[in-house]
Amino acid sequence: MERKRILTGDRPTGKLHLGHYVGSVRNRVRLQDEYDCFFIIADLHTLTTKPEKENIEALPDNVRSAVLDYLACGIDPAKSVIYLQSAVPEVAELALLFGNLVTVPRLSRIPSLKEMAQGAGIEEMPFGLLGYPILQTADILMPRAHLVPVGKDNVAHVELTREIARRFNFLYGETFPVPEVLVSDVGSLVGTDGGTKMSKSLDNAIYLSDDGKTVRKRVMSMFTDPKRVSADVPGTVEGNPVFVYHDVFNPDAAQVEDLKVRYRVGKVGDVEVKEKLVTALNAFLDPIRERRAKYESVSGLADEIVYDGTMRMREEARATLNLALKAMGLSAVWNRIARKAEDVKKKRDKAVNQ
Ligand code: TRP
Repeated sequence: MERKRILTGDRPTGKLHLGHYVGSVRNRVRLQDEYDCFFIIADLHTLTTKPEKENIEALPDNVRSAVLDYLACGIDPAKSVIYLQSAVPEVAELALLFGNLVTVPRLSRIPSLKEMAQGAGIEEMPFGLLGYPILQTADILMPRAHLVPVGKDNVAHVELTREIARRFNFLYGETFPVPEVLVSDVGSLVGTDGGTKMSKSLDNAIYLSDDGKTVRKRVMSMFTDPKRVSADVPGTVEGNPVFVYHDVFNPDAAQVEDLKVRYRVGKVGDVEVKEKLVTALNAFLDPIRERRAKYESVSGLADEIVYDGTMRMREEARATLNLALKAMGLSAVWNRIARKAEDVKKKRDKAVNQ
């Protein structure tokens, strides 16, 4: 039996951070043996908020950096297809077709789009940004994926994907699987500032490629319980970013529990809690850093992986698009016109030659 498929990916905006890791990358590594995996580097999606030339010029390096982060986390390109969205133009055509199966008010209600506009300082919603989840739908349905591991902020997009898949199947016949979403148990990781989301643009991120010193600096300046003015004041653990990170990245559960107990009664300083977090994070990141350095030293490795993955994806995309056009009866429109035209031409040629 054919294996089920995963599609997920990232916008190449730079280095991946811990939020990417717990939101989605960790699940990918875990599932790559069980599923056929497709990982998209969604460069076209970056244009929805950053269409400027500088952004486009930065893409090749950002793409390489994303691939190195994937490899460093344990994604195996021998098992998975890693590809570049803009080099598979079929996705734009599929998105154009899907755009007819969804209304503007439906898209307008998706909160992440407004947030992205705001985050980028855009006042009026660009058409492309409103269509962001339609393009994402085309990404997901292109390899006819069954499962989409994403962070919390992308769940609404996969919901739309499910609606579009159902609508397509209803109008034109069973063509696409209706994919399931897989949200990581952490959902989305808070930023070092305690903000709801770790993000490059908010400058509250710890990157997978940060060195030990940078991690220390980041952790030492992290927000904790704002009401706790000194170490002997009882503090709150729930939602406190330092403890959120301990829960996710510190494998020593007994140590974390001890810190929590002492924190709640005002018997531990922020510095000790943070020092232990620095140790835990660096222990977590060390093997990732080592692997990244190893892969980075191989010239052109990331490029070759994306190249091979993109070539493979192009075949897949052609096949799916043909399937969709056939189901819609759209390929038949041209086929009929073309057949008639060729027929007429042939007859005319014959008549002339007689
Ligand atoms: N929207 C994702 C992000 O927030 C990137 C992305 C583009 C994606 N296409 C996708 C994720 C398809 C999952 C599936 O960066």
